[in-house]
Amino acid sequence: MSSSQPVWDFWVRFGHWLIALGVIFQQISGNELELIDAHATVGILLSGWVIFRLVWGFIGPKYARFSSFPLTSPKQVMHSLQRVFTKQTEQTPGHTAVGGLAVYLMLILIGLTALSGMASSDDILFTGPLEPFLSSALVDLANQAHPILSKLVLIIVIAHVSAVFWHQFVMKEPLIQGMFHGLKPGFGQSIGQPNPFSKLLLLRGFILFSLCIGGAYGILGIYLGW
Ligand code: HEM
Ligand code: HEM
Repeated sequence: MSSSQPVWDFWVRFGHWLIALGVIFQQISGNELELIDAHATVGILLSGWVIFRLVWGFIGPKYARFSSFPLTSPKQVMHSLQRVFTKQTEQTPGHTAVGGLAVYLMLILIGLTALSGMASSDDILFTGPLEPFLSSALVDLANQAHPILSKLVLIIVIAHVSAVFWHQFVMKEPLIQGMFHGLKPGFGQSIGQPNPFSKLLLLRGFILFSLCIGGAYGILGIYLGW
C-alpha cells in the first residue's frame, strides 16, 4: 500500500459524521409523534448539508469534486464492482466508480426525502414549510413519497456501510480511519490544489457550511415557520 496523503478535508469528514447521525436519528424519529418537531428540524438541516455538498463538489479540494468521481457508464460501474468482489484494490485515493455512484445516490435520495418531508401535510398535526406553496396533488404525492424515499435512503445506507466494512476488514483498506483523520493511500497521485488541509480551504468550507446550514434553517425552519 502506498504512503498516505491528505484526501478528505475537514468539511467532508465533519459533514459525513453529522449526516450519518442525522440520518439515523431521522429513521428513529420518523415514527414518533412526540419527536416530529425535532424530525422536521433535523431534516431541514440535512437539506442544508445536501446543498453544501453539491457546491463543495465544484469548489472543494480535488477528491471532494465531482470531476474526480464522474458518473461513468454502467460497464465501468460493473467493472468497478467486479474488482470489489474479487478483492482488487482500485488505485485511487478518492471515490471509486461504484463508490462515487453510491455518493450520488445518497445525495439525491437524502435531498428528495427532505424535500418531500417539507412538502408533506396531514392537515391536522403537521404542515411542512413548503406545503402552502404547493397544489394539493403535489402535497398528496409528497405524503406518499416520503415514507418510500426514506426506506430507499435506509437501503442505500445499509449497502454503503456494508461496502465500507468489506473494504476495511476483508480488503484491508484503511477507509474508516480516513474518514476521521483525512489521510488515505495516495497511489502516487497528486493531492491537487488547494491542499485539503490548508487554512484557506478550512475557511472557505466554514463560510459555505454556515451559509447552507444557517440558510436552510433560517429560511425553511424559521421564516416559513412550520
Ligand atoms: C446514515 C449513515 C451514513 C450516511 C448517510 C453516509 C453517507 C456517506 C457519504 C455521502 C459519503 C461520501 C462523502 C463525501 O464525498 O462527501 C460517505 C463516505 C464514507 N463513509 Fe459514510 N455514511 C454513513 C455511515 C457510515 C458509517 C457508519 C461508516 C463507517 C463505519 C461510514 C464510512 C464511510 C467512509 C469510510 C467513507 C469514505 C469512503 C472512501 O474513502 O471512498 N459511513 N458516506
Ligand atoms: C433526509 C431527511 C429525512 C429522512 C431520512 C426522513 C425519514 C422519515 C421516516 C423513516 C419516516 C417514517 C415513515 C414511515 O411511516 O414509515 C418519516 C416520517 C415523517 N417525516 Fe421524515 N425524514 C426526513 C426529512 C423530513 C423533513 C424535512 C420533514 C418535514 C419538514 C419530515 C416530516 C415527516 C413527517 C411529517 C413524517 C410522518 C408522516 C409520514 O410518514 O410521512 N421528514 N420520515
